Amino acid sequence: MRKINIALPKGKRLLGRAYEIFRRAGYVSAELESEIVKKDRKQLEFSSECGTAVFLLVRIADIPQYVDRNWADVGITAFDCYREYELLNVTARSSLRGDNFISDLLPDLKLCAQSRFCVAGRQENLEFYNKCKQSDEKILTVATQHPNIAAKYFANRGVVADIVTVSGSAELMPSHGGADVIFDIVETGSTLKENGLVIFDEAMPVLTKILVSRAALKYDENIAKMIEVLKSANEQELFK
Ligand code: PRP
Repeated sequence: MRKINIALPKGKRLLGRAYEIFRRAGYVSAELESEIVKKDRKQLEFSSECGTAVFLLVRIADIPQYVDRNWADVGITAFDCYREYELLNVTARSSLRGDNFISDLLPDLKLCAQSRFCVAGRQENLEFYNKCKQSDEKILTVATQHPNIAAKYFANRGVVADIVTVSGSAELMPSHGGADVIFDIVETGSTLKENGLVIFDEAMPVLTKILVSRAALKYDENIAKMIEVLKSANEQELFK
């Protein structure tokens, strides 16, 4: 029997909770459970006791690519990762990637329920930000780790944005001449506060979803069955 490959985010914050969604549905791996409590994790592949599934521990940002290219049949990831991957790949003319995963078969898993995308900056830049929202003659410089999501967000609002891509520490940019605002994920708000920034706009929530490979859903009937089992097993906890 073909095994279903399940990609789980390997980071400490989400792994246990992501695995729990499959465990409740009967996809149990004692080996993975003992690995989850270890501080230093090395093993990346774990079989389920039932023998029908394999868990792959993957960096959360790579999970959309795993499902898109059928390296995994399903995977748990967050909006910032799958939307960025989708926008980057579907819009790139040379690429046919980014359209093999389905993100809406199951509702938000709420694993990052407090997190949302925000536009933030130094209080003294708020007036300029508001002017940029009202006029396309001004250019707003935006530092972000999520350039495609940011570009779409500002374009949809008629704001002319010069997007500066950074791989982290965007919060430094408004104070060091790198940007008027940042477009970043805020959870507790403490990183903004520590860096003298305030929220100008709340843009969108960071959903966490189970991505499903469109191709796998077609050729393996067990994928659809798994989705149904996941839905009913998690109904009480997640989809109230
Ligand atoms: C995210 C985000 C912010 C921070 C916000 O970074 O980019 O910097 O969390 O969290 P807070 O509102 O609770 O302070 P993360 O810690 O994931 O690191 P990274 O940006 O380097 O990936």
